[in-house]
Amino acid sequence: MLIKTPPKSALKTSDITDESVYIQRRQLIKSMGFLGAGALLGSVISKTANAGFFDNKDADASSFKTTPLKFTADKDNVSLIKTPEQKVISHNNFYEFGAQKNQPAELSQNFKVNPWQLSISGECDNPITLDYDDLTTMFALEERIYRLRCVEAWSMVVPWIGFSLADLLKKVAPNSSAKYVLFETLHDPEQMPGQSDRRLGGGIAYPYIEGLRIDEAMNPLTLMSVGLYGKTLPPQNGAPIRLVVPWKYGFKSIKSIVSIKLVREKPQTTWNKLAANEYGFYANVNPAHDHPRWSQASERRITSGGLFARNRIETLPFNGYGEQVAHMYKDMDLTKYY
Ligand code: MTE
Repeated sequence: MLIKTPPKSALKTSDITDESVYIQRRQLIKSMGFLGAGALLGSVISKTANAGFFDNKDADASSFKTTPLKFTADKDNVSLIKTPEQKVISHNNFYEFGAQKNQPAELSQNFKVNPWQLSISGECDNPITLDYDDLTTMFALEERIYRLRCVEAWSMVVPWIGFSLADLLKKVAPNSSAKYVLFETLHDPEQMPGQSDRRLGGGIAYPYIEGLRIDEAMNPLTLMSVGLYGKTLPPQNGAPIRLVVPWKYGFKSIKSIVSIKLVREKPQTTWNKLAANEYGFYANVNPAHDHPRWSQASERRITSGGLFARNRIETLPFNGYGEQVAHMYKDMDLTKYY
C-alpha cells in the first residue's frame, strides 16, 4: 500500500507538536480518501467523537462486565501518577473495533471473551492450550504500574494486572530452535467489525500479528495482562489477555491474543509489513530516532487534563526502563534496528 510521507514538521518538542501531528494526520487521511495505512497510528482524533473523554466522568464508559481480581500490589512504582481509569478505557487503539480513539470502547462491549482459547505452541516440548479460567488462575497475579508510550507520541501510566510471559513460556519448555515469539489476535470479523470493513479497520491486514525476540519475551518486565485497575480487562483494552512490553512503542503490546508460537525466524508483523520505514520490528522507545512524520523526543502524558493540556514531557530511552533492558541491545545500532 502506498504510504504518503509529508515533509517532517519543523516543530519539535513543544506543546504545539500535538496539534501539528493531528493536523498532518488529518491532511493525510483526507488526501488518501479514507483512513489508510499511512494514517495508521495516526488515527483521526475527532474532538466531537471524543467528547466524553475530556469531561473526567467516572469509569462508566464500559457496559461490559469486568470482575475484581486477586493480586499482589506493585509497591515499587507507587510514585508514578496513574492515568485516570476512565481515560485508560476510553482512549484506545484497537483497530479491529475502529481506528478512532473512541470507537473500541463504543463497538466492543458485546465482545465474547468466555469461552476463550490461547494456544502456546511451536518450537517447544510441551505445547499447551489454556481456557478462559486458566488465564486468571494458572499463575499468581501481580500488579505492574507501567508507562505506556504510543508511537503517536501520547502516553499513559496504567496499573496492569498479570503475570510474566517468561513464566508461561517456561511451562511449554522452548527448545533451542525457539529464537522468536509470534503473537496473534483473534480473527473473527463478525465480532470485530474493523476486520471486514476497511474504513473502520484502517485497511490493515488481519489478524493482527506481533513478535518479540526470545530474550525480550523472557525479560522479567514482559507482561501477559489479564486486567487493569484491579479488574479483568474490558474488551477495548484487549480482553481477555494481552501483551504489555513497557519499553517498546504501544503497537507491540498486542491485544486479545489466541496464539503464541515459538518460531525459528523473525516473524512478519502487522505494522512493520505495512510501513517498515515507520514501524520497526524492535520499536524500542527512542527519543533520538524520530518517526518520519513527527518527533519522538517528547510525549503528551494523558493525565486528568484535556486534549491539549500542557502535560508534555521528555521521552526517555527505552521509556525509562533502560536499566532492565538496554543490555539486550548493546551490540546493535539502534538507528538501524529501530
Ligand atoms: N492490538 C491489536 N490486536 N490491534 C490494535 O489495533 N493497537 C496497538 C496495541 N495493541 C492494537 C493492538 C496500539 S497502536 C497501542 S498504542 C496499544 O495497543 C494501545 O493499548 P490501549 O488501547 O490499551 O491503550
